[in-house]
Amino acid sequence: MNEVIQSLMSRRSIRSFAREQVEDEKLQLVLQAAILAPNANNQEPWHFTALQNAEKLKSLDELVVGKGNTFFYHAPMLILVSIKEGAPHEQENTACALTNMMQAAHALGLGSVWCNRINANHAIDTKLTEYGVPVGYRVTGTLALGYNKGDYPAPREPKEGTITYVR
Ligand SMILES: Cc1cc2nc3c(=O)[nH]c(=O)nc-3n(C[C@H](O)[C@H](O)[C@H](O)COP(=O)(O)O)c2cc1C
Repeated sequence: MNEVIQSLMSRRSIRSFAREQVEDEKLQLVLQAAILAPNANNQEPWHFTALQNAEKLKSLDELVVGKGNTFFYHAPMLILVSIKEGAPHEQENTACALTNMMQAAHALGLGSVWCNRINANHAIDTKLTEYGVPVGYRVTGTLALGYNKGDYPAPREPKEGTITYVR
């Protein structure tokens, strides 16, 4: 099978991470995939914050889900996607960037999972400047990124009946 298609079809969400940090070279490629993602009117209203500082990661976990809990599975890095306040198509642009990052990560042998807690909490999502989110931007999605710990999950069995052909 075509290599790109094979990669697209075998990606899974990863929820168990090794402690090892992602090499800068791979991180750059994942971020390039993000900033080259399709986006409405090519306005690129987004910002990507690669949070790798262990203390800040711990404090963010505490802020979002409380002491002793984690919403990003103790990954060594969380990429925060934020969109300029008021920009249209916030969710669509976020989804395109996150999908590109997840697929790039998988192609590079990394694991990732979309973590949805910050953007579901409006009391928090605008208060993240101390975690590297620019002023005037709202966090719309986050991605845990790192190396998978344990066996990589098998390809998913998709639900049946979700495709119609009209010919
Ligand atoms: C918008 C969106 C939000 C998600 N939020 C979370 C989340 O907060 N935590 C989590 O563990 N997985 C989250 N996921 C991952 C989904 O649970 C996962 O993609 C789905 O179960 C299919 O599994 P797969 O990615 O391994 O194919 C999210 C996925 C999407 C697209």
